Amino acid sequence: MRIGIIGYGLRAGYVYAQMKQLFPETKLAAICDPRKEELAQTVGEETRFYDTPEQMLNGEKLDAIMIGTRCNLHTELAVRLLPTGIPLFLEKPVATTLEDLKRLKHVYENSRSEVVVSFPLRNTPLIKRVKEEIDAGKIGKIEHVQAVNNVYYGGVYFHNWYRDETLTGGLFLQKATHDFDYINYITGEKAQWITAMKSKQIFKGTKQAGLECPNCEEYETCPESSLVQPYGTKCCFAEDTGNEDSGSALIEYESGMHAVYTQNFFARKAAGKRGARLLGFKGTLEFDWYTSDIVIYPHHEDKEPERIAVTLAAEDAHSGGDTALIRNFVGIIRGEEQSKTPLEEGLFSALMCLKATASAEARTFQSITYE
Ligand SMILES: NC(=O)c1ccc[n+]([C@@H]2O[C@H](COP(=O)([O-])OP(=O)(O)OC[C@H]3O[C@@H](n4cnc5c(N)ncnc54)[C@H](O)[C@@H]3O)[C@@H](O)[C@H]2O)c1
Repeated sequence: MRIGIIGYGLRAGYVYAQMKQLFPETKLAAICDPRKEELAQTVGEETRFYDTPEQMLNGEKLDAIMIGTRCNLHTELAVRLLPTGIPLFLEKPVATTLEDLKRLKHVYENSRSEVVVSFPLRNTPLIKRVKEEIDAGKIGKIEHVQAVNNVYYGGVYFHNWYRDETLTGGLFLQKATHDFDYINYITGEKAQWITAMKSKQIFKGTKQAGLECPNCEEYETCPESSLVQPYGTKCCFAEDTGNEDSGSALIEYESGMHAVYTQNFFARKAAGKRGARLLGFKGTLEFDWYTSDIVIYPHHEDKEPERIAVTLAAEDAHSGGDTALIRNFVGIIRGEEQSKTPLEEGLFSALMCLKATASAEARTFQSITYE
């Protein structure tokens, strides 16, 4: 399997390493990345380096391509590669503006490539088991979702390039795109309306723009300095710190059921939490990726809650979602499978995030349509 990677950074390097471990026949045939001189020193395979995707396509016969650049380039690259018919692994979010989203949707509807959107969560053993319990009717139809994402490693979004909203499109697109996707997957319903709010209460301040933690007089005392939060060295209390630090959305689905989702970026250590409580008439099911536990509370039967501990294989980093994504991608390359996270799902989840951001900014409900 000859793979080409466009944007061989932290994420693509990690996904490729996992793929090589699971499928040793994988070859990193080509990289297209402006850091090519630097990467040539570290990439240990017989890899050829290119300046543009077109040069890479002309110079190589590739079985698959991964797009792992920063967020703002995902659409442009996908639009150029979709017509090739080569299977694509596309990082999230698939677009950072509504304009890009519509462009990507249009090209996809007229294209040939099968796309795996990098959504590990819906692929995790935990969520697969949750879906089995729901489909078995344990709580009845889901009539209410309460989802939480308290990001204990939230410093990522204030200390390094993610702090630039022009690159990321804001934090609903960074985080909620995963959570909205798994909620859509579990409920099997289509989201129709969204309203949202976001706040910036902590990661703002008067430190000078461009300040680096090691140059700050509070380097050794600040609880968020890069000395203790090892996610980058930019000051998170500087005038140029981007991104909200908490956000919440209310989503109405086609049946009238609604979900509430809330994300926070200053919870730390054991306060980290990612999961949801799903309520049906018959029962409540709750789960959390950090504990890998599912608990099902019957509403009317007189019995103890059922507790299910989901175990992960040793290879299952990122709660097992990445290995499932990679196995699916390889199945597609071999012509044996279709995408389990197709682009239409990536587009719809990004649309929900863009509408959440628009709602928070305009203080209005937004219909989740491409209009
Ligand atoms: N699915 C997930 O769970 C998950 C997890 C982490 C990150 N991500 C996503 O992965 C993406 C990359 O994040 P990262 O932390 O690896 O960033 P990174 O900065 O480490 O990597 C980006 C790479 O793209 C290269 N690049 C820049 N401009 C380019 C261009 N024009 N053409 C080709 N390559 C170019 C950079 O040199 C760099 O090597 C982000 O969009 C992020 O949201 C997804």
